[in-house]
Amino acid sequence: MGMIRKSSSLFRRKAIEQHESNLKRVLGPLDLTTLGVGAIIGTGIFVLTGVAAAKYAGPGLVLSFLLAGIICAFAALCYSEFASTVPASGSAYTYSYTTFGELIAWILGWDLILEYGFASAAVASGWSGYFQSLLSGMGLHLPQALTGAFNPEKGTVIDITAVVITLIIATLLTRGVKEATRANGVMVAIKLIVVFIFIGVGIFYVKPDNWEPFLPFGFNGVAAGAATVFFAYIGFDAVSTAAEEVKRPQRDLPIGIIVSLAVCTVLYVIVSLILTGIVPYHMLNVSDPVAFALEFVNMNGIAWIISLGAITGITTVLLVMMYGQTRLLYSMSRDGLLSPVFSKVSGKSGTPAIGTWISSVIIALFAGLIPLDHLAELTNIGTLFAFTIVSLGIIMLRRTQPDLKRGFRVPLVPLIPILSALGCVYLMFQLKALTWYTFIIWLAIGLVVYFLYGRKHSLLNPEQIQK
Ligand code: ALA
Repeated sequence: MGMIRKSSSLFRRKAIEQHESNLKRVLGPLDLTTLGVGAIIGTGIFVLTGVAAAKYAGPGLVLSFLLAGIICAFAALCYSEFASTVPASGSAYTYSYTTFGELIAWILGWDLILEYGFASAAVASGWSGYFQSLLSGMGLHLPQALTGAFNPEKGTVIDITAVVITLIIATLLTRGVKEATRANGVMVAIKLIVVFIFIGVGIFYVKPDNWEPFLPFGFNGVAAGAATVFFAYIGFDAVSTAAEEVKRPQRDLPIGIIVSLAVCTVLYVIVSLILTGIVPYHMLNVSDPVAFALEFVNMNGIAWIISLGAITGITTVLLVMMYGQTRLLYSMSRDGLLSPVFSKVSGKSGTPAIGTWISSVIIALFAGLIPLDHLAELTNIGTLFAFTIVSLGIIMLRRTQPDLKRGFRVPLVPLIPILSALGCVYLMFQLKALTWYTFIIWLAIGLVVYFLYGRKHSLLNPEQIQK
């Protein structure tokens, strides 16, 4: 453990730890890009594109993807600088603990709990959409009450498939994470193959007439669409969690983050153009739009393959998100800010099993009861807030620790971090009032928890016995 500077200040900071890691440094840029793509392509492109096109952007969805992609690119540059400077199992929470001090780190950590929690629930809900469409393709139907989030009008009570997949992934995670991630490379390949199949087949069914009118809801629709499909980009920061296993972290982490984001942006732009070119945009509000588009042109067999690939691909995202959640809770608990239950590693599996189950059961309930678009909006507001703080953190770290060794430096500081922060705040303002209220209440609860618990139990509190 690095040097601990105890203090009673609200802004006490953790020293940037230069500790030796026991993990083997085996990963290179290609592995990191695979990891990134594995964490990024999922429910966003396979599911949310539908509602974003139908409700907000129309065929202008492609512009929504470009706008969200550009803002993410700025944020990704900032993440890269942090990841190359603090290459110890990086996460925005760790970064801010060393830059802004404990209070902001707590707020950010609490915010990321919301992000990963709701992202996992949203991804599970997207998984369920494709799984059910696969079942109905085989003539199997669940009872209506079990097919969707709580909605008395539609007669749905709980999305049971989303609950079950969440609990299955929780079981995998508590068994040991190595086994769970071993199949990652294969699943990422399958996911990319189905995206290419969609592009390769779909392109022949595009009717440019469907792109008219291009902006049925004007630029406001494009911006609102961007705030929704922003979800599709979340995950590139997962690359930095592998920091301790990377051969040359200071060079390779930025490459992994930036290349995986670039690959996904290009694919998203092409997919959204083809999707809105095949199906009139107002018909896209379905739970499996990418498969639906091919069914629309009677390519049922290929639609079936796409559904299967989407399910596989979305599974990798769920795995990474739920893993990220447990790891975040683990580090916050290890720092004393959350109950030790979350960092209690169970002897048999070597994983924080109790913490994993607590968070997974909550995620499963959210996934089962709350509609996907609301889950996605909550994820987005949390993530955009985190990106904003990370971007401002770059400016601050340059001021406070100008001589720190950085493997990668954001160009044009402070312009790019400022653009990144402004872009994120802009997207936040596109989200619904209900999303804002939920977010603000969540942050308020977090502050209460901090002042009642975290502040006292923090390892940086002088009253804590050094562990
Ligand atoms: N970007 C991830 C997805 O779309 C969270 O599923």
